[in-house]
Amino acid sequence: MDHAPVETPERKAFYARIDKQNMTALWTVMNALITPEPKSQCVPALWRFDDIRAAMLEAGALITAKEAERRVLILENPGLRGYSKITTALYAGVQLVMPHEVAPAHRHSQSALRFVIEGNGAFTTVDGERTYMSPGDFVITPSMTWHDHGNETEAPMFWLDGLDIPLVQFLDASFVERHPEEQQPITKAVGHSAAQYGANLLPIDNRGGGPTSPIFNYPYARTREALDRLVRSGDCDPCHGVKLRYTNPVTGDHAMPTMATFIQLLPPGFKSTPYRATDATVFNVTEGRGRTRVGDTWLDWGPKDIFVAPSWQPVVHEAICESVLFSFSDRVVQEKLGIWRERRGNL
Ligand SMILES: [Fe+2]
Repeated sequence: MDHAPVETPERKAFYARIDKQNMTALWTVMNALITPEPKSQCVPALWRFDDIRAAMLEAGALITAKEAERRVLILENPGLRGYSKITTALYAGVQLVMPHEVAPAHRHSQSALRFVIEGNGAFTTVDGERTYMSPGDFVITPSMTWHDHGNETEAPMFWLDGLDIPLVQFLDASFVERHPEEQQPITKAVGHSAAQYGANLLPIDNRGGGPTSPIFNYPYARTREALDRLVRSGDCDPCHGVKLRYTNPVTGDHAMPTMATFIQLLPPGFKSTPYRATDATVFNVTEGRGRTRVGDTWLDWGPKDIFVAPSWQPVVHEAICESVLFSFSDRVVQEKLGIWRERRGNL
């Protein structure tokens, strides 16, 4: 497939003529359109949380959460600057809510995930239910659900925001609405959805299930306990360590329709077997220290750092001490479209 037809004066003149009619000859662009393997502008990159934190505290003095609507610094992939993307399909940012601030209620087509990095006890309200957040908690705001954030503690609260903004933009399907009130009314008790759906039980009349998990906070304490038990029973994959995916308990599918979310534990001294997949993946270091080779790039990471591995580049993790990585990608979309691919082992 890797051949390019020669350019002749007649062909060039033809291309110029049809160009005026908004037409292009496929044979001149086919090699760029249909590549033998994924080719991406997205590159391996890492952001140190210390740098993000310092910049965010500066931002905290520059603008309120209310004025900004969301006080977020976008993590832009160095290969995709100017596009508000961390991978080709996904967006990531770090959000700061200062003590006694409110990020006002709104809703939009884009789905959002939060993964808490620092701070204890700020809250997110989703469709009338409040959840209080701690480091390592994974929180979902499904498409078109009202959500606002608040921090009644005395310490700043930081979390990773992951959204499907580029995907929704690609499909031209974006809507947003602002709630008439700064904070939406609370209609359900704290822990309501976890009690209904998070105890291996379902409401008696539950039928089917929506595209997004009805559990909107997956607390780290429970996730960590599961990882701990599995690693102690030796349940360790050579490519991933102990790796689990967050699921929708009603359908068994991924927790969100556009972003797949994962948590993995790497035992001390663990060196993974090379692994590649077509879903570019964003990692957040929940605990530990180590390094990851992505293609030819080594990324050294410590607690709270964020890094990204592009599609189809071989990934090798090395953990210095016991480490936990949260990650998210567009794998769920690729699986639905039947195009997701992985390759394990030496490449
Ligand atoms: Fe939002």
